[in-house]
Amino acid sequence: MTAHLVTNVGELVTWDADRPVMHDAAFVVEGGRISWFGHRRDAPAADTSSDVAGAAVIPGFVDSHTHLVFAGDRSAEFEARMTGEPYAAGGIRTTVAATRAAPDELLAATVARHLAEMRAQGTTTAEIKSGYGLTVLDEARSLAIARGFTDETTFLGAHVVPEGTDAAAYVELVTGPMLEACAPHARWIDVFCEDGAFGEDEARAVLEAGIAAGLLPRVHANQLRHGPGVQLAVELGAAAADHCTYLTDDDVEALAGSGTVAGLLPGVEFSTRQPYPDARRLIDAGVTVSLATDCNPGSSYTSSMPFCIAVAVRDMGMSPREALWSATRGGAASLRRDDVGHLSVGAKADYAVLNAPSYVHLAYRPGVPLVAAVV
Ligand code: NIG
Ligand code: FE
Repeated sequence: MTAHLVTNVGELVTWDADRPVMHDAAFVVEGGRISWFGHRRDAPAADTSSDVAGAAVIPGFVDSHTHLVFAGDRSAEFEARMTGEPYAAGGIRTTVAATRAAPDELLAATVARHLAEMRAQGTTTAEIKSGYGLTVLDEARSLAIARGFTDETTFLGAHVVPEGTDAAAYVELVTGPMLEACAPHARWIDVFCEDGAFGEDEARAVLEAGIAAGLLPRVHANQLRHGPGVQLAVELGAAAADHCTYLTDDDVEALAGSGTVAGLLPGVEFSTRQPYPDARRLIDAGVTVSLATDCNPGSSYTSSMPFCIAVAVRDMGMSPREALWSATRGGAASLRRDDVGHLSVGAKADYAVLNAPSYVHLAYRPGVPLVAAVV
């Protein structure tokens, strides 16, 4: 096995317990994993080496929440929102119609295009949900396409009740034939638990059916108003309660005492002019927080983790270090992954070299393309 040394790292973020952030550092990659890191003067001999000239190196971002299998454009809806229209869950149906009409090749090319965009901005692991098909066939093909790109695929047949369908009958479909067709292509089961989408009992039925089929639960919770989503996520041991925009003290307490990660998605509040979630309140209570893009054509059409970090620091009470942690290690925790989101020994060597001396620049220089290379 050949060893490759990356040296002259001005700032190395490893999230290692003893040396989470190092200066004047170096690291060695063998077989795609980190085999050593430390001060550059202590670096062992290696077969090959590269010098990053004092740049910062961070773990690749782990984007734990995206909806990349879609077709169509909703810029008109965004424009209407920016002139005063509210965001409503029903907009999802516009994308459903376009997605059903799109051939597989177009859907796959769209996923590939957005993943390339994400990678250029430092993302090395991405979760992808279905949820714009809402028929047995369209959900199954959405997931089969997503599976071609990532192992972190999520069945979100319970995104919204499709037009012309009775809610109870649709939940029967999602928990029956649709789940059966989709489970082989999915790792996760998700539900949009919200007024206008699925209520508590429906969401519970969807998640329990998914769990029974071997999938792991995650939830779209408390996005548009207070609701039962967070409590349900905690009760069912979900890996993630994503959105968490409207929380009661009880919700925060429940999350703090659980293994459920609170996923914050600042692109949504940015693009819907909603109030931002309060990351400070969650972190101070001891909740594990992740940051993700929620990349989708309706509520948050950004593929940029650096953008999410900048907003989280500016408007959600996070320090630059907390935001970077949530965008890397926090995302990995949300996906129950130990091998990504950090660069300590044994981790996958998924990293980004920044065109900057420190990770702080991700928030300090918002909107600037700072990712120089992604490995
Ligand atoms: O995560 N909340 C539900 N689903 C997406 C929005 C999808 C859409 O508007 O198309 C979200 O925000
Ligand atoms: Fe979402």
